[in-house]
Amino acid sequence: MSVFKIQGGRPLSGSVRVQGAKNSVLPILAATLLSEGVCVLHNCPRLTDVDHTLDILRHLGCRVAREGETVTVDASAPTGWAVPDSLMREMRSSVVFLGPILGRMGQAELTYPGGCELGPRPIDLHLMALRALGAEIEERNGRLFCKGKLTGGDITLSLASVGATENAMLAAVMAEGTTTITNAAREPEIVDLQNFLQALGAKIRGAGSSVIVIEGGKPLHGGEHTVLADRIVAATYLSAVAAAGGEGEVTGVDWRQLSTVTAVLAEAGCQVESGAQSVRIRVLGRLRSVRPIRTAPYPGFPTDAQAVVMAALCKAEGATVFAENMFDSRYRHVDELARMGADIRVEGKVAVVCGVPCLFGARVRAADLRGGAALALAGLGAEGETILSGLHHICRGYSDLAGDLRALGAEIVREEEIVTES
Ligand code: EPU
Repeated sequence: MSVFKIQGGRPLSGSVRVQGAKNSVLPILAATLLSEGVCVLHNCPRLTDVDHTLDILRHLGCRVAREGETVTVDASAPTGWAVPDSLMREMRSSVVFLGPILGRMGQAELTYPGGCELGPRPIDLHLMALRALGAEIEERNGRLFCKGKLTGGDITLSLASVGATENAMLAAVMAEGTTTITNAAREPEIVDLQNFLQALGAKIRGAGSSVIVIEGGKPLHGGEHTVLADRIVAATYLSAVAAAGGEGEVTGVDWRQLSTVTAVLAEAGCQVESGAQSVRIRVLGRLRSVRPIRTAPYPGFPTDAQAVVMAALCKAEGATVFAENMFDSRYRHVDELARMGADIRVEGKVAVVCGVPCLFGARVRAADLRGGAALALAGLGAEGETILSGLHHICRGYSDLAGDLRALGAEIVREEEIVTES
């Protein structure tokens, strides 16, 4: 079993370049299925979720190659339209293949993705969007059978779901006529997907606002694209400095995409300076508590940054209230933080973090991706050694968390631990 061993209690000093965004690259890879040519994607992070996505593309008959951070996908002759359960189960976001498979092949067969470690993850809005474009969808024995020739239509999402917006965009590009998506998610990753689709010749506009308009039905050619930097990874590394003290810099990222996070860190007493493609942070003394943090769709405070910012505020002076409004089960890091001495009470959507003067190193286990990263950060701010297991969760979204934290001056190594059954 692999673990991170973290020697905490030492201030950081360093600089790190931010990897490509997981939540951009996954729908973009699914979008390559729409192209009749070759797609070249730069800045593709090495993540297990990316590997699983490439496996799905291969299974569907695409030729896939990786060289460093560049991935090439040739989807000129896809052969399949069904994704087996074993691949669907690897990650919940494989549901984003539904729109592109259906759009390209006229039929699709996928397993129902079900719940995940963050709680129930319904896909009713994905299905509603595809039905609005003419898809016939049957759900039988946990499988989804979809078919139909798609035509443009009006899609109004009752909530601004990221995945449903992406699925709707990807299906609409193949649907004859005009599609309008209203109450679309406005995340930067949606804009990145639009940029990629435009590079393939798609007629699509409006991403980044609540209304996206697509003139679909034309074949797409190949194209080249550089994946957006990961704003959540950037938020994680800034929070690492906030948790451990010292100073640090993240580069290659657009500060405007993480301004709700940097605003919180500044309110907590950190000095934050944003440049054109970098953010610097300096911690001058003990952090202080901040006004309530409520997670919300972009441009609100991201749910994906809730855990890492909480880790940074565990030692702040005073109490901070968190309201997690996006997912039902996103406080699984709290019990583990408590093992390190944190004082956090959770009731439903609300967590109250009462700052303690000191955290202590402990054995802790990641239960999900961002919560796992948060435990590593708490370890950096804790006295003594922290041993963190459950690293497979972290590898889904961070290409080299330990290496990047070392670039920031942290003492963290990945080691194999022999587990003896007792
Ligand atoms: N929802 C529905 N019905 C649907 C779809 C969503 O009720 O058909 C609900 C969800 O249950 C949730 C809310 O809407 O309560 C928001 O879900 P959304 O669809 O926006 O999220 P997602 O597309 O499943 C993406 C990211 C998540 C990130 C969320 C919110 C990817 C691959 N995943 O998920 O990223 O937390 O948006 O910003 O893009 C992560 O990176 O750690 C992660 C979980």
